[in-house]
Amino acid sequence: MIIAVDGPSGSGKSSTARGVASRLGLRYLDTGATYRAVTWSAVDRGLDLDDTAAVAQRARELELEISTDPERQFVIADGTDVTAAIREPRISEVVSKIATNLDVRKELIRRQRAVIDAAQPSGGIVVEGRDIATVVATDAELKVLLTADQEARMARRGAELGSVTAEQLRDQIVRRDADDATVSEFQVASDGAVTVDSTYMTLDEVVEVISRLALE
Ligand code: ADP
Ligand code: CDP
Repeated sequence: MIIAVDGPSGSGKSSTARGVASRLGLRYLDTGATYRAVTWSAVDRGLDLDDTAAVAQRARELELEISTDPERQFVIADGTDVTAAIREPRISEVVSKIATNLDVRKELIRRQRAVIDAAQPSGGIVVEGRDIATVVATDAELKVLLTADQEARMARRGAELGSVTAEQLRDQIVRRDADDATVSEFQVASDGAVTVDSTYMTLDEVVEVISRLALE
């Protein structure tokens, strides 16, 4: 079983996908964390992020361990625990640039598919990102496009980040949405995808709706 959850920043993908995986006893993969880990590594090494060949090389060489336990998430990059570091604004501000590097995408999609395959014997996986239903796992049994209006997404991210400035919040949501929109296969409702608008739903309600769809 593969459940694909795609959607823009702050729509609730991570929390919802984790909740569904816990409820149904499935594994969970946050594909955004793989793009963030490569970004962290490129920044850590002081690479020129416009040097697409060097960044792609870094993606191929990076030793990446990502937890698929929905109750205990961690990301280890070249032996360093980067679970918290990859969420810092300095990474969020540049991650879309790394995500538009097609050779980085090729490498990370290969790794994501390996994680998805490895999860099948134990029952399956909930995978969340931007291009899961359209590219990474087109054979997913359930495809969900999770949306929420921009105001709700900004309010959620703001509450989560605490002392963030309005400028940083815009960077986190509005600018990143615009940058991500340059990748054509992102966030389009693929064949058979169900759109769930979470603007006026609680997290529990979204988890309930998606879990029920998965069991149908
Ligand atoms: P995404 O992975 O799409 O960026 P997250 O799952 O990180 O979104 O959610 C962003 C924030 O919004 C988190 O603090 C989360 O707890 C909260 N959140 C998620 N879904 C809802 C919802 N339906 N209602 C209110 N808050 C939500
Ligand atoms: O949590 P949030 O939605 O803010 O971001 P994320 O899921 O951690 O993803 C970070 C970035 O990685 C996105 O803004 C995209 O640029 C990129 N990404 C991607 O290109 N493809 C995916 N499947 C997932 C994320």
